[in-house]
Amino acid sequence: SYKESIVKARDHMLRFPLVPVKGVPLMNLIANVFDSISAFRPDPSDILVATYPKAGTTWTQEILDLLLHNGNAEACKRAPTPVRSPFLEIVPPPPIPSGLELLEKTDPPRIIKTHLPVQLVPAGFWEEKCKVIYCARNAKDNLVSYYFFDLMNQTQPEPGPFDGYIHKFMQGKLAWGSWYDHVKDYWAAREKKNILFIFYEDMKENPRREVERIMRYLNMSLSDEVINRIVDLTSFKNMKENPMSNYSCVPMPVFDETISPFMRKGEVGDWRNHFTPEQAAMFDKDYEKKMKNSGIPFRPML
Ligand code: A3P
Repeated sequence: SYKESIVKARDHMLRFPLVPVKGVPLMNLIANVFDSISAFRPDPSDILVATYPKAGTTWTQEILDLLLHNGNAEACKRAPTPVRSPFLEIVPPPPIPSGLELLEKTDPPRIIKTHLPVQLVPAGFWEEKCKVIYCARNAKDNLVSYYFFDLMNQTQPEPGPFDGYIHKFMQGKLAWGSWYDHVKDYWAAREKKNILFIFYEDMKENPRREVERIMRYLNMSLSDEVINRIVDLTSFKNMKENPMSNYSCVPMPVFDETISPFMRKGEVGDWRNHFTPEQAAMFDKDYEKKMKNSGIPFRPML
């Protein structure tokens, strides 16, 4: 099983160094084979879920799997998230299957996860006119979530103290690069490339409305009963309790849930518990400079 393959490889699951690929810092194992990732040919029916890490990827993947399975909870418990919905560019040490290996073994339509910035997404996705859903999350909560993930995930670079981490985030030095460029470049590409842009905060505010938006984008029409069921099955509580969506498939010590659980809090505004007022002011000033002309309708996080 997937979990057993990780147990076999766990001595090699060390904090992988980052190597720039076209200016974007990526885990060295990914950088080494980036050409084969770029050459990936999707099926036109494949759906790409693109996010900056920790913006709501797993949540969006679960909603999509349930939509494709008409809200059938059992069908969506057939395997853990990374097997049901492969992570395009991930290259773990053997015998853990890579994203490309898992994709080969999965029949389309596949729900494919990526954290690649839009300019690094394999051209095949645009050529085949695949549906692409981008989920964005407000910067400070996204940063806090990534910080706790980097503490608990032994494959990510060591986060160091929180204050220094804020600066690394602002400088785009974390794995998958700059949050600012990531969201701005997907936003700028959304119309031309027919990308559905959703927000974590909107999903928290009105999950039903956002599930319906995704459904319409996929040209699907499901009954109210099925939509309500999908909303319920994808609540934070239910996904945290579901062994097929809570990442318990990644065992200790690779994901060390004694440090922080994968399904950590699932809230909007948790940054207030971690940023000092001085850090928030400094962050916001820099944010304003980087994002002022982006036009992205993030909610004010004051
Ligand atoms: P927190 O660390 O703030 O709790 P990703 O899937 O992109 O790695 O993002 C993980 C973040 O999304 C974590 O945020 C996690 O708790 C949150 N999350 C996962 N499923 C969720 C859900 N159903 N509802 C709300 N938040 C969810």
